Amino acid sequence: MTAVPDARRGAVPGVVARSRELVRPALVDAVGRLHPWTGEMAAYALGWSDVAGTPDPDGSEGKGVRQALAVLGAEAAGADGSAAVPGAVATELVHTFSLLHDDIMDGDALRRQRPAVWKAYGTGPAVLAGDALHAQAVRTLAEAPSPHAATAVRHLCGTLDALVSGQADDLRFEQRPWTGAGAVELAEYRSMAERKTGALLGGAIGLGAVLGGAPARTVAVLDRAGRHLGIAFQAVDDLLGIWGDPEVTGKPVHGDLRQRKKTYPVLAALASGGTAARELAVLLESPEQLRGAGPARAAALVEEAGGRAAARAEARRNLDAARRGLEDAALAPAAAGDLDALFTYVLDRSW
Ligand code: IPE
Ligand code: MG
Ligand code: MG
Repeated sequence: MTAVPDARRGAVPGVVARSRELVRPALVDAVGRLHPWTGEMAAYALGWSDVAGTPDPDGSEGKGVRQALAVLGAEAAGADGSAAVPGAVATELVHTFSLLHDDIMDGDALRRQRPAVWKAYGTGPAVLAGDALHAQAVRTLAEAPSPHAATAVRHLCGTLDALVSGQADDLRFEQRPWTGAGAVELAEYRSMAERKTGALLGGAIGLGAVLGGAPARTVAVLDRAGRHLGIAFQAVDDLLGIWGDPEVTGKPVHGDLRQRKKTYPVLAALASGGTAARELAVLLESPEQLRGAGPARAAALVEEAGGRAAARAEARRNLDAARRGLEDAALAPAAAGDLDALFTYVLDRSW
């Protein structure tokens, strides 16, 4: 696979740029169908314009991984990548809406190096913009000029169900204790991450495959591979939330710790049971200590207790499972190669 250099992000797989070009006109069209106000917020969230609605050449559209997965899903089924375009658009719209709402739920004020939509426009407007994007995603697929449109809508609904249920667990975990009875187990975390993040990655490849005419078994295999990729993706996201450079990730650092998010590195550190784990538990249980220098101390303890290494291993294991999963279906070889490279890119990213 060709990789193109990107100033901020190192080498980006060629399929990301190629898919962006293929998908953008239909995505612009879908956003253009929104109410002008929700459309303006969507354009801001997508990095196309600034908060005044003026085109923003420095805005970030995001990683573009999901639309590339959709395109590759169609190509893996032997179809032209263009068959996936309505699926890729729906995926990007869902991704954008889920982030708008997620930043409100997580209280995160920064996204892609800029104020999150709820900070820039207000919470009510951001909820509404998310609703508008959600509706437009379903409509895009329902109106797709494809014999597979109805199957694609059903597939998207399954993806949405899983995403929402994963988010529900993520939020409920905030109220659970860090240790002892009722503490979140690593297996529960994994199931949550598979749904909140993996459902959309798997859903994207699956949607592309559905629109490319793949048989149900191939769609299921691709969806499962994407879910493993999602667990790996989330473990990396958790790591970047603690040790990432906010200049590069565009997101706040230590937000997860302050919000009592049960992330993999922290859970794995607590489960290790040593001195650092015990000190970490005390720190996490006292909310006043999670202000000031507390998060930096917590991060150091997570590392000392092995949580950082454990999260990396979790990501690696799931990446391997995702790549192995691709071998379970008869896929067009070029697309299978591109998928494999894209999977690896997701794990190696620093943003
Ligand atoms: C977001 O998960 C998942 C969805 C939006 C469905 P996170 O809350 O962990 O992701 P970031 O770190 O805010 O991007
Ligand atoms: Mg979040
Ligand atoms: Mg969240």
